[in-house]
Amino acid sequence: MLRRILYVSSMAEGMTDQVLKHIVAVAQINNRRLDITGALAIAPGVFAQVLEGPAEDIARTLARIERDERHVGLRLLLDEPIVLRLFDRWRMQLLVDDGAARLAIEATQGAAVARELLEQMRRQYTEDPHLSPAAMRGMALAS
Ligand SMILES: Cc1cc2nc3c(=O)[nH]c(=O)nc-3n(C[C@H](O)[C@H](O)[C@H](O)COP(=O)(O)O)c2cc1C
Repeated sequence: MLRRILYVSSMAEGMTDQVLKHIVAVAQINNRRLDITGALAIAPGVFAQVLEGPAEDIARTLARIERDERHVGLRLLLDEPIVLRLFDRWRMQLLVDDGAARLAIEATQGAAVARELLEQMRRQYTEDPHLSPAAMRGMALAS
């Protein structure tokens, strides 16, 4: 069974680009191994992350993430069984997007914007130049 979760959290003191890059690099390696896909959006002081994959592996990964002291105040916004993934080809894509950032900050303050936030992150996925029809055509021509 596949499961999707979406959460927001607050960055711990002292978060740097370097630390962030390391988090994403480790996440991508682990997630590939576990067949987990998703995205991590950042806003000033805030994370929003969507994870999708086998239910058991999502549970174990979430447990690891919850223990991680590089963020605090994790709030689970969505937790649902799914049939299809929304982020099929992203092992853990870092998103720096104003729309998602605004919604992530609102969510940490208690606003009910979970679906909107998920849709905003998904919009970024569909706009990924690597996945666009133009890029696909380019690949076909190159081969
Ligand atoms: C915001 C945030 C997002 C993370 N996302 C993932 C992830 O998607 N997958 C993952 O394996 N680890 C992720 N991590 C890292 C885990 O918390 C943990 O450090 C990592 O899985 C290694 O765990 P271990 O040291 O127990 O082996 C994330 C950490 C943070 C702070």
